[in-house]
Amino acid sequence: MTPWRGLLHEYADWLDLRGVTDVVTLLEGNTPLIHAPRLSELVKADVWLKLEGLNPTGSFKDRGMTMAITKAKSAGATTVVCGSTGNTSAAAAAFAARAGMSCVVLVPQGKVALGKLAQAIVYGAEVIQIRGNFDRALTMARELTQHLPITIVNSINPDRIEGQKTGAFEVVDALGDAPDILSIPVGNAGNISAYWRGFTQYHFAGVSSILPKMWGFQAAGAAPIVLGHRVDEPETIATAIRIGNPASWVPALEAVDESHGAIRAVTDDELLAAYSFLARNESVFCEPASAASVAGLIKFGVPAGSRVVCVLTGNGLKDPDTAVSQSVTPVVIEATMDDLLRHLQ
Ligand code: F0G
Repeated sequence: MTPWRGLLHEYADWLDLRGVTDVVTLLEGNTPLIHAPRLSELVKADVWLKLEGLNPTGSFKDRGMTMAITKAKSAGATTVVCGSTGNTSAAAAAFAARAGMSCVVLVPQGKVALGKLAQAIVYGAEVIQIRGNFDRALTMARELTQHLPITIVNSINPDRIEGQKTGAFEVVDALGDAPDILSIPVGNAGNISAYWRGFTQYHFAGVSSILPKMWGFQAAGAAPIVLGHRVDEPETIATAIRIGNPASWVPALEAVDESHGAIRAVTDDELLAAYSFLARNESVFCEPASAASVAGLIKFGVPAGSRVVCVLTGNGLKDPDTAVSQSVTPVVIEATMDDLLRHLQ
């Protein structure tokens, strides 16, 4: 078996690689699709989990970033920028460093999970916290490209979506066909659009016999697509999807309409319950936003016996504060066997 060579090599025939001279890769992709027996039993369906947290920077963003940075570098760019709730900035910083490029990231002050902030800093990006939310950060990143010679690597950059569609390819390659339902958290709405592009491309090429229904889930406090209007002050514990005006709103709705799917909302409590359920029952530690895909299944149910894939977009280790604050604080005892036995009895 030849070792995995990264997405742009493995899926070269399926990607728009025009103009690419030098591939920037961290051997992203090829993430596990694991069966979830307890969740399957709970919702009376056949549920699988796509562990995107096992990408090199711990989220699905690496799929789009290998493509975006590769293309930016091939086009001669030397600096990239993004607005981010954390994961995009971690991936942008890592791939830019690999490419020998500079990276500027704009993040909402105090609303980025600690691990993600640490990543962007350690990978050497210029990290700028703004007194504003993600939507404002994205607007500023866009505007910056008019003032400076800098390439934006948010998902409004089409190369990002093109790379991210490989998640769908991997799901079909692993299952032998598309699932009946693809369940996915929705923030800026790029990923749901990307998966749909991947599924349709494979289907129309005859690789899969069916197309999945696309089920997207937003956090109730940040659910503009569900509400049908922009949310000016989005709020949720799932900071990754704390977004009030998604850039890919229109393509996301198209994916949902064409696939006969839906975008619905789950509350923070529902999302945290799914987060704990996954860790305790399936041994999968994802970040809170990722658990929206599972919370949605538990909340709304699924047609009996259907095959479902939940995309767990990011690694739980990125957000240690939420993990610890949602759990019982470990006890402290004297370092004696007596105390240990007393505690355990
Ligand atoms: N899950 C995680 C862990 C994310 O980081 C994001 C988005 C999403 C889901 C939603 O994906 O935006 O394509 O609908 N994070 C972006 C960021 C906004 O800046 O890292 P989407």
